[in-house]
Amino acid sequence: MNHLPRKDHHESGKRPGGTFILAAALWVLLPLLATVSLSGEPKNVAKRYRNEPIRPIPAIVDVDRRKAALGRRLFHDPRLSHDNTVSCARCHPLKRGGTDGLPRSVGIKGTLGDINTPTVLNSSLNIAQFWDGRAATLEEQIDGPVHNPKEMGSNWKEIVSKLSRDKEYHRLFEELYDTGINAANIKDAIATFERTLLTPDSRFDRFLHGDEQAITDDEKKGYLLFKSYGCASCHQGMAVGGNMYEKMGIVQGYFAERGNITRADYGRFNVTGLKEHRFEFKVPGLRNVELTAPYFHDGAVPTLEEAVSKMAYYQLGREIPPRDRDLIVKFLKTLTGRLPETSP
Ligand code: HEC
Ligand code: HEC
Repeated sequence: MNHLPRKDHHESGKRPGGTFILAAALWVLLPLLATVSLSGEPKNVAKRYRNEPIRPIPAIVDVDRRKAALGRRLFHDPRLSHDNTVSCARCHPLKRGGTDGLPRSVGIKGTLGDINTPTVLNSSLNIAQFWDGRAATLEEQIDGPVHNPKEMGSNWKEIVSKLSRDKEYHRLFEELYDTGINAANIKDAIATFERTLLTPDSRFDRFLHGDEQAITDDEKKGYLLFKSYGCASCHQGMAVGGNMYEKMGIVQGYFAERGNITRADYGRFNVTGLKEHRFEFKVPGLRNVELTAPYFHDGAVPTLEEAVSKMAYYQLGREIPPRDRDLIVKFLKTLTGRLPETSP
């Protein structure tokens, strides 16, 4: 396997004395670290794949299952919207990979949104929520759709009053939270549910765990190309993305070529106001990407093939030959994991 320089790698070998002592210390410490697993990673990553830019998703999430079940119910409840027509699941249907397949979603009163809906699957792995990272946590994120007039157009007072009239909710909240039904507890339950929406056990993860047969030779070639083209410098970690902000159109001007620039296109700039953050987005995770078309923040790209060609061109300045593109697409399809149970 060829490796890309990763941003979190430290330079080594500059001071031979220090390196020796460090090496000696590691020799003693490594077996200990391997059993402790500092980063919470699964311990069973095959030794030869421990330095790969992509990490497997853990199979078990440690959350309060009863709160998660309540969160699942709230996630599917249209009473969180002003006119009781739109639930979180409307735009993030779990059966379809956690997103609705539209370039832009439709909220209450048939209103069209401003930006493509990202998946909720694996969103707990992101550094922050939304394309521009404006919400630091999953809990904070929920304030967004609830108040957005183009999405659910409601507010907490209205929601708490509606849910309080429901005997079943009343009972569940009283059981699970000292303070009963309120905004913080509703957000806590939904975010707890969202933390269960991981998709472990993809064929690619099984490969990382040491099962060489889990992916085909073509898919392995696609993975090598993914690294050698430089995709993994941005799409990496457990979510194969979601852990940094990068400009869309680093090498070629995406927006100049597409035209019609909207406020949403300014990305991270809308959060920080800094010029250098214009057109920067949270790099989307590529887990389950075969299910989450159309692609990009503007939902402009209907197929994975086209998304890969555009990435090669705009982010890396390369015209990718169809054969390489198809191999990368084959690799990307190995990232589809086991979807969580989908019944409400
Ligand atoms: C009308 C459609 C719609 C509804 C309803 C909706 N969302 Fe979203 N969701 C979106 C869009 C669009 C974005 C991206 C917005 C942005 O980045 O500015 C998003 C982003 C998110 C994200 C961030 C994902 C990431 O990778 O950054 C999470 C998590 C999320 N929604 C959860 C929820 C929850 C929970 C609810 C219900 C309380 C909900 N959504 C309701 C459309 C919707
Ligand atoms: C410099 C960082 C960077 C590099 C290199 C890069 N990407 Fe991306 N990628 C991004 C960003 C940022 C986005 C979001 C762009 C947008 O929505 O406008 C993205 C979006 C995508 C998407 C769409 C995901 C979605 O859910 O909409 C795919 C697929 C993708 N990249 C694959 C690749 C492949 C394959 C390569 C290598 C050929 C690559 N990327 C190289 C930063 C990068």
